[in-house]
Amino acid sequence: MSATDYEVQALFAEAIFRADIGHAISGEQVEYIKNQKMVRNQVNLISENLYLFDEPEMASISEAIQGALDLYAREVMGITQQLYVTQSWSLINEPEVGMHGHSHSNSIVSGSLYYCDLAEPVAKMVFDRHNSYQRLEFVPTNDKTNIYNAPFNVITPHKNEVLLFPSGLQHFVEPNQTPLPRHSIAFNTFVRGKLGDQRDVSELVLK
Ligand SMILES: [Fe+2]
Repeated sequence: MSATDYEVQALFAEAIFRADIGHAISGEQVEYIKNQKMVRNQVNLISENLYLFDEPEMASISEAIQGALDLYAREVMGITQQLYVTQSWSLINEPEVGMHGHSHSNSIVSGSLYYCDLAEPVAKMVFDRHNSYQRLEFVPTNDKTNIYNAPFNVITPHKNEVLLFPSGLQHFVEPNQTPLPRHSIAFNTFVRGKLGDQRDVSELVLK
């Protein structure tokens, strides 16, 4: 006879942090970002400037992003070290263009910022449970999909929203099904502070 009384507990989880930073984004900044010189990436367009948040024109946005990273470090990661932005770049996905699956190397937490209007239907960000070849593919039936088995999780970005997620999470962007360009900023981070313990000879000071 099979058990009818049982429980399933979650062991670990991945976090997507979402916050509205519209208060920190001005019309001039939107124009400044849209006027960046763009170059062709693989399928989409990427800004020539890959350190956008370092520009003085971006100060209030950079500050708001730092605030979100501070919350993520403290509340999601539970650490005292500081996350800071390394590279930051703007992206344009023209009509029909998405972004293939990838993850972000040499970064701890990555983020996206949707700094201006997003045309409907908004191309979603799709997070993949796996980041490597799957020899066996188990596909749950629709009515049995849950956090333990879902192969994908989908986020629909909103205007003014910043998303933060672990850099190793595989993700892709759906093709832009609208006649208008889809604008975003992406960024990577690293950590500064002290890890480990001096007496344990595991100390690592990251400046
Ligand atoms: Fe990405």
